Amino acid sequence: MAIIYVDNQPYTVEDGQNLLHVCLGLGFNLPYFCWHPALGSVGACRQCAVKQFKDEKDMNGRLVMACMTPAVDNTRISIDDAEAREFRAAVIEWLMANHPHDCPICDEGGECHLQDMTVMTGHTYRRFRFPKRTFRNQYLGPFINHEMNRCIECYRCVRFYRDYAGGRDLDVFAAHNHVYFGRSEDGTLANEFSGNLVEVCPTGVFTDKTLKQHYTRKWDLQTAPSICVHCGLGCNTIPGERYGKLRRIYNRYNGEVNGYFLCDRGRYGYEFVNSDQRIPRPLLRKQENGLLEPVAKDSIIQYLKPLLSSRVIGIGSPRASLEANFALRTLVGPECFYSGMSERDTRLVATAMKILLDGPARSPSLQDIEFADAILVLGEDVTNVAPRLALALRQSVLRKPLEIAARLKIPEWDAVAVRGAIQEEKGPLYIATTYSTRLDDVATETYWAAPDDLARLGFAVAHSLDTSSPPVENLQDELHSLAERVARTLMAANRPLIISGTSCGSDAVMQAAANVAWALCRNGRAAQLCLTMPECNSLGAGFIGGNSLKDAFERMGENAVETLIILENDLYRRADAVAVDAMFNAARHIIVIDHLTNATTYQAEAVLPAATFAEGDGTLVSSEGRAQRFYQVFVTDGETQESWRWVRDLMIAVNPSEDAAWYNLDDVASALAATMPIFSPILRIAPPAGFRIMGQKIPRQPHRYSGRTAMLAQIDVNEPQPPADPDSPLAFSMEGYEGEPPPPLITHYWAPGWNSVQALNKFQDEIGGPLPGGDPGQRLIKAVPGADVSFFQQVPPPFESRESEWLIVPLYQIFGSEELSVLSHGIADRSPKPYLALNASDASDLRLSDGEEVELVLDDLRLRFPIKLWPSLPRGVAGLPAGLRELPEIALPAWGSLSRG
Ligand code: SF4
Ligand code: SF4
Ligand code: FES
Repeated sequence: MAIIYVDNQPYTVEDGQNLLHVCLGLGFNLPYFCWHPALGSVGACRQCAVKQFKDEKDMNGRLVMACMTPAVDNTRISIDDAEAREFRAAVIEWLMANHPHDCPICDEGGECHLQDMTVMTGHTYRRFRFPKRTFRNQYLGPFINHEMNRCIECYRCVRFYRDYAGGRDLDVFAAHNHVYFGRSEDGTLANEFSGNLVEVCPTGVFTDKTLKQHYTRKWDLQTAPSICVHCGLGCNTIPGERYGKLRRIYNRYNGEVNGYFLCDRGRYGYEFVNSDQRIPRPLLRKQENGLLEPVAKDSIIQYLKPLLSSRVIGIGSPRASLEANFALRTLVGPECFYSGMSERDTRLVATAMKILLDGPARSPSLQDIEFADAILVLGEDVTNVAPRLALALRQSVLRKPLEIAARLKIPEWDAVAVRGAIQEEKGPLYIATTYSTRLDDVATETYWAAPDDLARLGFAVAHSLDTSSPPVENLQDELHSLAERVARTLMAANRPLIISGTSCGSDAVMQAAANVAWALCRNGRAAQLCLTMPECNSLGAGFIGGNSLKDAFERMGENAVETLIILENDLYRRADAVAVDAMFNAARHIIVIDHLTNATTYQAEAVLPAATFAEGDGTLVSSEGRAQRFYQVFVTDGETQESWRWVRDLMIAVNPSEDAAWYNLDDVASALAATMPIFSPILRIAPPAGFRIMGQKIPRQPHRYSGRTAMLAQIDVNEPQPPADPDSPLAFSMEGYEGEPPPPLITHYWAPGWNSVQALNKFQDEIGGPLPGGDPGQRLIKAVPGADVSFFQQVPPPFESRESEWLIVPLYQIFGSEELSVLSHGIADRSPKPYLALNASDASDLRLSDGEEVELVLDDLRLRFPIKLWPSLPRGVAGLPAGLRELPEIALPAWGSLSRG
């Protein structure tokens, strides 16, 4: 620790940071632009000037940039010094010389860091009376709007996009005093994290194009803490609503999970909440015309009551909350509950759970991943499956070379000097996947092979680390030496990390990854093992249990079931349509609880309208094993409610004295924890519904929320009471506690003088550190250090290509593979049309060239696609985009034959 003096007051601060970082952490209002806690300091904007003094006798001092000056013991500075204040005011004046002052029509207005800093420095009147420099704006795709005239040349955008996120198609171009931040020509920004520019840019150059479609100022948004539902990582978000429409998603800081950034699927995948496919009211199929028609809630419950008396099974969902799954399991009984995962995913998630629960390797948070110093990725196309994890991996490979900077006594925050010192050095990252991935540009070595060969590499690495792990027979020399290199590197590391998961569909690959991590643990290394999951609550659904869909099909086939209840699950995305149809034909009554119409709701006799993540509360378990709570953002005017409430209503109808007649989410969570002790930590995730601060709830609406007396005037000119919220300490109101709430209950970032996202600084004790009291979420799984490792023994034989068949593997798409996000227009625009990827040599054997049609025959399916040549796909392996709406559900990998179309 160091003692520094700010305007003659002593403060104890963390050693080794820069003065801006520590001053913000101490709560001072010191303006800045180019510094960002995740990007470090470059000293570009000159806005953070302070006066530094040699000692207490020094009366003159000198101006220094706080972000470029280390906070060492006995540092004496003044923020309030007149010369420092004048300097900062001059800086903002020249930055504003060319800024258009178009705040009233700028989407950033009201949450703009430039506005805040302009007010903070006291720059009030414009003296510049000349024509301003102007630029042409660019089309940057469906997510980002570009208005270059607002740029203040802080360089944050390119530093984030290029240096942090690995993007290549955004740059800075300059001639004379024209400095331009954009692409070399109009076109969609290709990087998967481009949406973060909206939060990183301190002015309105890069703004959210999807928000523009239904624009609302920040102060008019109703917001609540939430969790992204578009992959298994569980990034924390703040969705914003106005007039019953979800308007945008912003990042919610969680130091251990997503930190400051989201991926574009998570940020822009929200539009399904506003979709025309939403089901606002209960629907019942009329016998007269066979159509689903709206009915009142009470009458549908009464109608369904007799259907629940016997022979009922329930199918849960890995995209529904823990509480919803548990409620259905309680209604139908554990033996009649099915997890709703496909046969393949049930098996893979079970394998992952076993590995994570029994083994000695810890599952890391995303923050842990950023600190890994040697990494092996086995089988995962990380960027497309769990995008934010790829961003974390990019940071980890940049950390190892920081040792070079440390030797040169360059502090980590000095981004320019660090970059100069480490040049293109990267930490060790070995990527073994079926095809080339977006992370290959930072990989030490890559290896592309069929899943069985990837598993063999993993087993070989594990055997090299620990000979009690099974050997790999007939391993080629080249692969053997790669395995040796990987093993040596992992052994030499302090924080080795193995990444694998369910996406390549191979238990053997995950088992090999587990063997590597466990072998490292047996060698005394604190190895971590990260296994990606298919969906936002796959791990939670796995813990809740239940057999697979295939078991449900079999049970239906035995004629043992009358009523089928399906929870938030389009079964046609889980299994072969013939099997699903057969199941529906066998059921006398089908009840579906979901929020969107889909092929499954079309089969239902009754549909109960479920709340999405934005209209209800619940808990999801991320692939890390972290249970996290999402909160209702707004109340709909339809009859939607959380799925668990629909199930609760059915329970009460069947048995009015039912002791599972839960009143609120806390009741369901308590019942879940009591029934299944692995879920006990969920009771500590967040304060209970009765929690109050100074007797008050926490408002979802900011204190400047406007128009509430008018927004419902068409219904009643008297302002209605805000809706009640029995589930949480949050209020659908602007009234309530205005101070800082506990981290899981932070609804928005705002502090006096800080209207932009940078107000987050005021919510952190240490900038970039954990939130006070700890980052939100509770881990359900703990590694078992020293656990008796029993290595997986089944090493698969080497992959052998077949004469006239290809192994069809899934190709994941960040835009297109996930069910809900693809209902957002921008995501749909960027999702590919179906194609079949093929190695060029295989294509040539089939006398096919790029774009020509091929026919794929998979069991009874015959499908035609244009082919795309993928040089990285091994011979004998073909790729099919996973999860596209245009394609039927196919459990991959699977063997299929190809012929010219
Ligand atoms: S576009 Fe925004 S982030 Fe980029 S340099 Fe300009 S002001 Fe800074
Ligand atoms: S990485 Fe996954 S959880 Fe995070 S924002 Fe993207 S889709 Fe959402
Ligand atoms: S924030 Fe210090 S120079 Fe820009």
